[in-house]
Amino acid sequence: MRNMRMPRRAIGVVAAVLLAGSVAACGNSDTGGEGGDGKIVLGFSQVGAESGWRTANTNSIKEAAGEAGIELKFDDAQQKQENQIKAIRNYIQQKVDVIAFSPVVESGWDTVLKEAKDAGIPVILTDRAVDSADKSLYKTFLGSDFVKEGRLSGEWLIENKKDATGDVNIVELQGTTGSAPANDRKKGFAEAIAADPKLKVIASQSGDFTRAGGKQVMEQFLKAHPKIDVLFAHNDDMGLGALEAITAAGKVPGQDITIITIDAVKDGMQALADGKFNFIAECSPLLGPQLMDLAKKVHAGEEVPARIETEETTFTQEQAKEALPNRKY
Ligand code: AHR
Repeated sequence: MRNMRMPRRAIGVVAAVLLAGSVAACGNSDTGGEGGDGKIVLGFSQVGAESGWRTANTNSIKEAAGEAGIELKFDDAQQKQENQIKAIRNYIQQKVDVIAFSPVVESGWDTVLKEAKDAGIPVILTDRAVDSADKSLYKTFLGSDFVKEGRLSGEWLIENKKDATGDVNIVELQGTTGSAPANDRKKGFAEAIAADPKLKVIASQSGDFTRAGGKQVMEQFLKAHPKIDVLFAHNDDMGLGALEAITAAGKVPGQDITIITIDAVKDGMQALADGKFNFIAECSPLLGPQLMDLAKKVHAGEEVPARIETEETTFTQEQAKEALPNRKY
């Protein structure tokens, strides 16, 4: 199988050299040629470096590739879909064995995915899904159930506020507009809190999954709304940014404003253990080992499940105190 592919690979080396300039334009790229030592070559396009979660995810993928003996070509798209499309096209030109990517947004992938399919290169979606109707454009999805994360957050809030009298005003910091985790977490949370009419989302805006975005949007929320009871942030980093805005406004995070976030990275868990956050739904970034396993299987032409979901949990303040000492990321 691999011998039959050698001539195509040789052309790939030339293409890689010719395309080195355009790869550099895609961000922090590792350019290079084929895995001449017989290694599987995996081209991976990462969303960016917007959060602690993302850094842990990148580290997991790089480490796992080394351990699995897979040659990884890595590109950081800096949160831009056009950079991801460029990177994927570049991987197609290089004739890598497998392409994987974490799509920054859900829509707009059909053309480039069809190009990969036509080139005979299997594609694995990791972390975030696409909304393509044609499921044959990719082999599998590996990641979290984001709707469930939103729902668990909403269910915890219902229980936490069951004795509250009067309206409970919620502000929501959404992730990157159009991304699967922003769409799905919003949906899951809204569906869950619909069971209690006193829980009302009074403002909802994107903070782009960054600390700076979380801080800036929370400042606006605090200026516009004198009574905010709850913050639901789609990730820890936006919640951590919002803490600064809340403190600067003279309020006590975790007491005056109940704070729910998603991810459970170390900094988020520390804020939870310190009483500044109140609840976190976990989203695991440690996808590297499973991704390498899948890359080997799809390269070998083996059947893989269409969707593989990560096992995750939730944390209260007490649980965070217990878990923190052993938290890996
Ligand atoms: O797609 C996963 C999300 O992206 C994480 O929750 C967030 O922190 C990251 O930026």
